[in-house]
Amino acid sequence: MDEIREIHAREVLDSRGKPTIEVEILTQSGARGRSIVPSGASTGRSEAVELRDGDPLRYDGDGVLQAVAGINNEIAPQLTDRDVFDQSGLDAAMIALDGTDQKARLGGNALLGVSLALARAAAAAAGVPLYEYFADRLNDQLSLIADDLPQCDRGFQMPLPMTNMISGGLHAGGNLDFQDVLVMPVGAPDYRTGLEWIARVYRRLGKLLSDEGYEGRLVGDEGGYGPRLPSNRLAAEFVVRAIEEARLRPGEVMTIALDVAATHFQEDDHYRLATERDLLLTSSEMIDRLESWISEFPITSIEDGLAEDDWEGWQELTRRFGDHIQIVGDDLFTTNVVRLKRGIELRAANSVLIKVNQIGTLTETLETIAVARKAGYSLVVSARSGETEDTTIADLAVTVAADQIKIGSIVRSERLAKYNQLSRLHEQIRSTLFADRTTLIH
Ligand code: PGA
Ligand code: ZN
Repeated sequence: MDEIREIHAREVLDSRGKPTIEVEILTQSGARGRSIVPSGASTGRSEAVELRDGDPLRYDGDGVLQAVAGINNEIAPQLTDRDVFDQSGLDAAMIALDGTDQKARLGGNALLGVSLALARAAAAAAGVPLYEYFADRLNDQLSLIADDLPQCDRGFQMPLPMTNMISGGLHAGGNLDFQDVLVMPVGAPDYRTGLEWIARVYRRLGKLLSDEGYEGRLVGDEGGYGPRLPSNRLAAEFVVRAIEEARLRPGEVMTIALDVAATHFQEDDHYRLATERDLLLTSSEMIDRLESWISEFPITSIEDGLAEDDWEGWQELTRRFGDHIQIVGDDLFTTNVVRLKRGIELRAANSVLIKVNQIGTLTETLETIAVARKAGYSLVVSARSGETEDTTIADLAVTVAADQIKIGSIVRSERLAKYNQLSRLHEQIRSTLFADRTTLIH
């Protein structure tokens, strides 16, 4: 038992210069925890609501002073004097205090800031690294779901980086329809080597783009290059060439992942490809299009290949490629256990993207992770396009033995904060091996 003495929130800025929330917590024993909340651009409709002030005179309406006040004036008095180790009880108290389905009253951003700062304060109070503290909380969730689920045995594992190379969509001025072309060093023996391979490809790619007259220095929100390419396909071609130039074998040791983020170019029941003279595709045609990409490029993972409510399309997509391609639901699931259970039942996707601020508390995030594990879905722990120096998700990925971590490219310090924390964890944990990658190597 260690009582919460003080909870204090303030407004700080994220990597896009937009206001976000920082929370600090102090316990009776003097332990401290601090967290900063990330923010998405291509958000799913089912995400926890991000509370913003809407006052056009401050930060064009993006201020978070109301959410900060909610923490300092409502949440803090409720949680003060309670045990900092009671993570699930404290998260439940905040959810009840908010009282809405999507955390719209106090804000998912407010709840998440407190939830993560609580975990950090508790880990500090227990004198253990954050990833160890997360393991106990994950085991709580696993045992709630099923007795026969293997518990997290502290054989922590490094996640395989899924790293942004070229950005489009809402992350880079809408120059491409697809949001990200990423790489995964599936053949790397360990994290350190994988990171070096990624950096090598990234540099070759910048040079290739510049040499051919495209913007090989300008980067999008997540650090991927944001060149004005005439087609989505050309983006994948450039990445494959960069892998070859780096003397890595595409499809064998380095594969490609896509985040199509299709929700954001869906119009009514169609998908509108702006780079192809506004071509409109049905859901089935969009799947055919993805199939041609899969046959042409060494792609082993596709995220949000279809839009967030196209459940039937997701079923077909999974039926057609799910046995050999990782089919990741981001906007589809929004880290929400109810949506994930629906997906499992319908056999939609075989992998779930985990973004803590999509759901808003640590406990709910771990519940979603536990359900995904039970169903055999792979896990991709992900940052947001608006990020900060907060490194919590690096620890989370190691605890839950995430199959991959997706934190943007290997430039921009809000991205490096996480990669560098992973380098520290790589030294600390007993097993430096990646999670199983066999399904990603064809
Ligand atoms: P977002 O992008 O943070 O803007 O939602 C990340 C993603 O779509 O995976
Ligand atoms: Zn996504």
